[in-house]
Amino acid sequence: MINVPFFLPTYLGNDLQDALTGYDMGNMRSRVYAGRTEEWLSKLMQPRLCKLTQSCTQSLELAALILGIKPGDEVIMPSFAFMSMGNAFALRGAKLVFVDIRPDTLNIDETKIEAAITDKTKVILTLNYAGVGCNYDAILPIAAKHNLTVVEDNAHGIMGKYKDKYLGSFGHISTLSFDFLKNITCGEGGAIFINDDKLAAPLRLAYEFGTNRHDFYEGKTPFYEWKGLGTNGYLSDISAAVLYRQLQNAEQITSAFKNKWKLYYNNLQPLQNAGMLSLPTVPPDCYHTAHNFYVITKSTAQRQELIDYLKQQGIQATFHYHPLHSSEFGLKAGVFSGQDEHTTRCAQQLVRLPLFYSLSEGDVELVCRKVYDFFGIAFKP
Ligand SMILES: Cc1ncc(COP(=O)(O)O)c(C=O)c1O
Repeated sequence: MINVPFFLPTYLGNDLQDALTGYDMGNMRSRVYAGRTEEWLSKLMQPRLCKLTQSCTQSLELAALILGIKPGDEVIMPSFAFMSMGNAFALRGAKLVFVDIRPDTLNIDETKIEAAITDKTKVILTLNYAGVGCNYDAILPIAAKHNLTVVEDNAHGIMGKYKDKYLGSFGHISTLSFDFLKNITCGEGGAIFINDDKLAAPLRLAYEFGTNRHDFYEGKTPFYEWKGLGTNGYLSDISAAVLYRQLQNAEQITSAFKNKWKLYYNNLQPLQNAGMLSLPTVPPDCYHTAHNFYVITKSTAQRQELIDYLKQQGIQATFHYHPLHSSEFGLKAGVFSGQDEHTTRCAQQLVRLPLFYSLSEGDVELVCRKVYDFFGIAFKP
């Protein structure tokens, strides 16, 4: 009986015991592991400031808050994206302006951004889909020319690079997710990175309930008080301890994902060559994270047939984002700029195949064999 789940959380074997044995609950307030984790991430990505958060969603909400987004402001973003990206800015009253994606990487099409800019545009919000970097060589100069802030949602992209620089270091602000579906996880968790000096103080304030508590801890003020809008950004130190353990194995975890991704790619390439489906593209200047493996089928009907067929065979495969611009709320929160050449088509024809840390190479071959069976073609590994 075949049973290949779509995803299982990354688990190295003894994560909880290794992370928490000897954990000093009495010293929890010192946030020892959160501090170590922030240091680890800072060493990797070299931001001005890195803070762990409770989720990538919270990081995005903090980004919109510290940028002072207000009703009437416009935010340019892809529609093939997670709703937290839209929510964070819509919560502050912004209008979302959706731009088409590139058909090769499914990232925002950098050539279509400029046409979407108006005098109300404040932010370009990018997503490094599946851990493949956007074309920042094109996006950053557009942002600079129009005085816009780039917020980089790097939920899928920890350890990924664009032109030898880690993803998450391109936006003025970037975010990470450590929820249970991400390559590296502590169940729920996130991080926010500030790469622009002038946003560091606003983040410290917003992160600590809208107070100057950071200055108080540093002995710069005799007491702290409510200074502005903010939240409780702290990730539990217990979660941080689990996260720290996984991060220390980040290279090995990423290689495990990438090896399985490559195996899928090599096995399925003949189907692409035969014109049966399309495989993901990783541009040569991108070092990706293999956060997911997807194929693009020829039609929405065929996508559903493939998902159903794999399900009958005991294999869980699934679709991904429903385009935000045609979602019930997206229709109210934003508009599509220009032509939707690829967003809806790719979203409706995309199937994600099982890919997770403990997936065996044998199971990858099994899934490939079943995909070949679906197309009625013999699989020759
Ligand atoms: C691109 C993207 N951004 C943000 C999020 C939200 O992450 P979190 O669950 O940490 O809030 C997700 C979750 O899957 C995501 O895929």
